Amino acid sequence: MRVTAIIAAAGSGTRLGGALPKQLLDVGGRSMLARSVAAFDAHPRISDLIVVVPPTLAAEAAAAHIGRTRRRVEVVAGGARRQDSVANAFDRVPASTEVVLIHDAARPFVSADTISRTIDAAAAHGAAIPAIEARDTVKRVDEGVIVETIPRETIVLAQTPQGFRRDVLERAIAVGRSGAEATDEAGLAERAGDRVHVVRGESANVKITTEEDLDAARRHAGAAAATRVGTGYDLHRLVDGRRLVLAGVVVPSRRGAQGHSDADVVCHAVTDALLGAATLGDIGRHFPDTDPRWKDASSIALLRDAAAMIGAEGFAVVNVDVTVILESPKIKDYIEPMRVGIAGALGIEPARVSIKGKTNEGVDAVGRGEAIAAHAVALLRGRS
Ligand code: CTP
Ligand code: MG
Repeated sequence: MRVTAIIAAAGSGTRLGGALPKQLLDVGGRSMLARSVAAFDAHPRISDLIVVVPPTLAAEAAAAHIGRTRRRVEVVAGGARRQDSVANAFDRVPASTEVVLIHDAARPFVSADTISRTIDAAAAHGAAIPAIEARDTVKRVDEGVIVETIPRETIVLAQTPQGFRRDVLERAIAVGRSGAEATDEAGLAERAGDRVHVVRGESANVKITTEEDLDAARRHAGAAAATRVGTGYDLHRLVDGRRLVLAGVVVPSRRGAQGHSDADVVCHAVTDALLGAATLGDIGRHFPDTDPRWKDASSIALLRDAAAMIGAEGFAVVNVDVTVILESPKIKDYIEPMRVGIAGALGIEPARVSIKGKTNEGVDAVGRGEAIAAHAVALLRGRS
């Protein structure tokens, strides 16, 4: 099924104000327009992309704002009203297209699922839009005074992309060209007598209209862009005559972990998870065991150093989760002080540190009690 997406980006953004139309403003490193185009460019069911831009915007400037895409993007000059812009784009929709989607460039956080749901419903019913339920009670007002309370169950808030079979959209646009006015294509299709179905929208799919929306969008994009995850793993042999140190805690044990430092597998795995999440290499690069400085070093101190390094890169730890694998002794009575130790080194609350013990059921070297291993995962976020 051939699906053509039209991105409406020819407005002037008067409610937001400012020198540039809002869809050209940066949201977390890319223009709103570039984000909206990328969402459709990345979607496997979209065949063609048409972007409608202000007629005053030069072709090279439009290309720069749209950014790099996998598909070829056709750029069309818009009109005075949104419906005029969409009508201009519709003239370029290929004859073999079955479903046309129209999306506001000012909704940069549209998800692939919302696009898919809209395509499916438009193909099945002829016309469909995503919408969300009204959370607030809805009132009709006249000169600042409520004249009616509208039952909330009868209200939904329309989003985009709005999807239509080609013939249905053609009728809607014809109604618009013959004088009807509407702020979305569904409005014109309703006027043309077509039934427009509603699919589930998403509250994240906001239309950026005001300065407040823009600030929230920038915070959202910044936080999402800066989320990082990393994994770490470590294993040490267990030998007689060594202490068993886990997360800085000495666990009474017949055998201890062999190694250059205190051979604390928990600290080593967590350190690697942090360094990995921040793409800062690994523990061996920063604390090489050939360096006498780290001989018998306390691994909790190395972890503290690693936490400082990721802090210097602008990251903070959201949470850490660790699995320790050893046959004996049982570590459950030491989990709490271990969590407190790791949390202290990272400068976070123990509630964000999880440590779990497991045996290897007698299987392989760990199962025979010859070694101890640990896996860790760490989530980081950028500091705002
Ligand atoms: N749009 C368009 N052509 C127009 C008017 C609007 O392509 N003549 C697009 C906008 O660029 C936006 C989408 O339609 O992506 C939704 O419109 P809206 O949020 O109202 O944007 P603006 O019209 O630009 O903003 P305002 O109403 O505040 O001027
Ligand atoms: Mg408008």
